[in-house]
Amino acid sequence: MTHLLVTGGAGFIGANFVHYWRQHHPDDAITVLDALTYAGNRANLDGLDGVTFIHGDIRDTELVESLLKGGIDTIVHFAAESHVDRSIHGPAAFVDTNVLGTLSLLTAAQRTWLAGSGTPHRFHHVSTDEVYGSLGPDDPAFSETTPYAPNSPYSASKAASDHLVRAWHHTYGLQVTTSNCSNNYGPYQFPEKLIPLFLINALHGRNLPIYGDGGQVRDWLHVEDHCRGIEACLLKGRVGETYNIGGGAELPNMTVIDTLCAAVDAAFRADPSLAARFPDAPAARGQPSNSLKTTVTDRPGHDRRYAIDETKARAELGYAPARSFDEGFAQTLAWYLANEGWWRAVMDGSYRDWVATNYTR
Ligand code: NAD
Ligand code: TYD
Repeated sequence: MTHLLVTGGAGFIGANFVHYWRQHHPDDAITVLDALTYAGNRANLDGLDGVTFIHGDIRDTELVESLLKGGIDTIVHFAAESHVDRSIHGPAAFVDTNVLGTLSLLTAAQRTWLAGSGTPHRFHHVSTDEVYGSLGPDDPAFSETTPYAPNSPYSASKAASDHLVRAWHHTYGLQVTTSNCSNNYGPYQFPEKLIPLFLINALHGRNLPIYGDGGQVRDWLHVEDHCRGIEACLLKGRVGETYNIGGGAELPNMTVIDTLCAAVDAAFRADPSLAARFPDAPAARGQPSNSLKTTVTDRPGHDRRYAIDETKARAELGYAPARSFDEGFAQTLAWYLANEGWWRAVMDGSYRDWVATNYTR
């Protein structure tokens, strides 16, 4: 049996991964280590048996060491500050968590797993395609050999953490793999990222703030496909290697936003109860949601295009995204409409009171 330590397992992708792993590997033990920042939500793990939750910080090296000594043989490292806009306004937190936090985990893993004759183990690091920088319209997609050229404080901090992980393999022999994935979307995503923010704004009749001309391109990856990609790295990935994981859905922001608006309009037409639940939505009055589109000042240093060449993951891991964007987006919209209580509590922070009374370290 494997015992996984999932850092950041109460965040968006980490929580989806814990749900996925529980379902597909029910005999494995899972410990989640999460500091429950604004982006972490204990309730994302509700309904799961056999998951031990530790409210703690990855920068607490002694805590991590003590957890690893309890028989953990695999780390899946998601914990991070993850939002580019926040990194522009407060970069220091990104260096603290993403760089020093990763250093702390590597140090704990080195001390525990590499001591004496060593223990079989794996350290899987979850990173981003943003480390490769920005592509022109006709440039080839990012491959694993594309030189790093991070442009935001967020991507620079993730690039630094990727380099540390690589160095711990080459210098100390830590058994690492890294995945660099594209923009995720799906259930449990904090409503600061494009898709959940715009969905919830459309339901409330609030503007949809489009940065610049909306022509930036991202490769949209449904979070469950990402979880499958990480699973493939853990089960089939070669130690010391990196793998790019994409969604096969390269789309300009404006296309994503138009798809979102049309899907909200269609949902209101199909279900009259939505107009009563969300009376401020234009769709409640038969108006198009895209009337809320508003162009705002562009994000400083905004990367124009990301695209993933997943040839290596396909060939070595047998990875391919299973969901088209239309299918994944429909599932995501249905989830947000069915889980209004979740996003309201996340947005007003009220779940924290519940965490404080129910969970202590
Ligand atoms: P998120 O912001 O939703 O969640 C981050 C989680 O980490 C939260 O639960 C938070 O409480 C926890 N955390 C933060 N600092 C911590 C600390 N010091 N100690 C312990 N826990 C801490 O992020 P996400 O979108 O789920 O991203 C997960 C990982 O995937 C990140 O490493 C991110 O860089 C990477 N990634 C995300 C995307 C995306 O589209 N969301 C794309 C590529 C890569
Ligand atoms: P985001 O979800 O923040 O992911 P990332 O910056 O990591 O790609 O943004 C996705 C795209 O949407 C990006 O090009 C920025 C753009 N965007 C807006 O136009 N308006 C917004 O309010 C947000 C949050 C993002």
